[in-house]
Amino acid sequence: MINVIPKPNNITFKKGDCFIYKDRVLLHIDPELADIEKFVSKCLGVKTEKADDESHIEFIFDDTLPEEVYTLRAEGYEAKIFAGSYSGAFYGLMTLSQLLLSDRDDSETLTCPQLIIEKDSPKYSWRGLQLDESRHFFGKETVKKYLDFMAMYKLNRFHWHLTDDQGWRIEIEKYPLLTEIGSYRKGSQLHAWNCPEYEEIPHFGYYTKDDIREIIAYAKERCIEIIPEIDFPAHCASAIAAYNDLACRNIPCEVFDFCGDVLAKEKGLKNWNRPLCLGKDKTLDFVKDVVDEVADLFPFPYFHIGGDEAPTNEWKKCPDCQKRIKDNKLKNEVNLQAWFTNEINAFLKSKGKTMIGWNEVLASKSTDTDVIGQYWVSQNDKNVLRHLKNGGKIILSKHKSFYFDMAYDYCTPKETYTYEPEKSKIKKELKKGVLGVEGEMWTEWITNEDHVFFMLFNRGLALSENAWTNRKDFKDFKSRLQSHKAFMDKMGIYYGNDHITMKKNKGLKKRQAKKYGFTVKHNDAEFRLDGIHNKNMRVKAKQALKEKKKREEYEKNAKGIDELIDSALLKAAGYILEEDA
Ligand code: ACM
Ligand code: ZN
Repeated sequence: MINVIPKPNNITFKKGDCFIYKDRVLLHIDPELADIEKFVSKCLGVKTEKADDESHIEFIFDDTLPEEVYTLRAEGYEAKIFAGSYSGAFYGLMTLSQLLLSDRDDSETLTCPQLIIEKDSPKYSWRGLQLDESRHFFGKETVKKYLDFMAMYKLNRFHWHLTDDQGWRIEIEKYPLLTEIGSYRKGSQLHAWNCPEYEEIPHFGYYTKDDIREIIAYAKERCIEIIPEIDFPAHCASAIAAYNDLACRNIPCEVFDFCGDVLAKEKGLKNWNRPLCLGKDKTLDFVKDVVDEVADLFPFPYFHIGGDEAPTNEWKKCPDCQKRIKDNKLKNEVNLQAWFTNEINAFLKSKGKTMIGWNEVLASKSTDTDVIGQYWVSQNDKNVLRHLKNGGKIILSKHKSFYFDMAYDYCTPKETYTYEPEKSKIKKELKKGVLGVEGEMWTEWITNEDHVFFMLFNRGLALSENAWTNRKDFKDFKSRLQSHKAFMDKMGIYYGNDHITMKKNKGLKKRQAKKYGFTVKHNDAEFRLDGIHNKNMRVKAKQALKEKKKREEYEKNAKGIDELIDSALLKAAGYILEEDA
């Protein structure tokens, strides 16, 4: 029994154990795989500088092995990883580091069962995880932790949701107001869509292009491609707040400090959900300029334009949009969005990029089959099936199984683990169009890093195993999951209480409805009920208090010392003056 997640596809166990000495490892890396060196000590915690012959770790180049594929042999005092690519070597190392985790602290050696993992390769090429930093901005250090988590579990696509109604988080040089105005909101609605509680604390932050380059480099070293998502034509309030004339009839708005209807109504806002005006050439120029800068910044092949939840009522009222419909002989407003999507798609293609959009972009028959659809909406979607039949590609993110912002009670780790395309009526013959699966971390009600990882841990590991292995077994997965908490502790990642995060909680809905006035599907109540977190927060608060006292004490003394020094200097100066005299 080994605790590796995702479970390798082909293992042969041999009798006895493999031993690697912690402080004297002979490391050999074939030159084709040289870049892996910096991760060896970091991931295994072994010392290679005092090497002798006693234990070996070898990375052997084998050009018959495709990208991401590795073979690992752990026998005697040797661990050998065979790979034909950097990604293969990296994933071999991730597996080895999990194998050797068990007795890292007290013995001279790292130990695992003797075994051979032969040509371990992923089930899906797309193993994605998304993070919404518009609703809440977490910053570079959290993103790097998120990427570390992804790398450990062989997830290879980071979908970065950088713009939405509640904040614009990426520097665009041609339009500085996007970040000057669009990255700042006055306050935040709390807890849930239908909860009117509000916190009057400004929320702001954005990434400069240099920040983004730093994150790109960090991700690349960990075999992760980043897909930026810049939302058009809806979810654009932060852009319209900065440049009002992007809206139909130039109707201005502020960066939203609310999500959904409850607070909008309280503020007396009607028709608050307004998309970009697709009738003005100016809008099209703006979108292309932004796409141009973002596409040039990210070196990867994909670009996500959102495209979801665009209301059509504004376009119906707008003379410019109606003129566009007439001039292009479009049938209706849905086709107006499709016309716009096709324009941006053509522009992206001219830059060598592939467009991704939520499954709403597949609503029109005119959508290019090269566009990748991301399937999130829960009902059986005929447009997705048509797209697949036409040879198009999709990513599966059905919210019952992959929306990690949803309560565990609604989207359990088992839902994530057991999901197969058949659940979305995708039959065997259409499965070749499925690139893979992706977990979504929307953050309307997730305000801090601990909460992000609380929502992620169990489901993120379930996602990883679903995306990689052909040997799924949920019971076995659950037993392996436990040992991974040690990794989380090491990475400073919070993982919550199994009592809440592993299953549906009978009765919780009712109790929460009573306690908070809303039900459990999509809110922060589980995190607030999570005992370990609350205990941690109390411990953290106590520690902070102690630190504060210590600092005050120190500062008092420091002041004393400064005074002593000052008086000594004065005295010295006095002597000097006396001597001079
Ligand atoms: C979505 O959740 N609106 C894609
Ligand atoms: Zn318009």
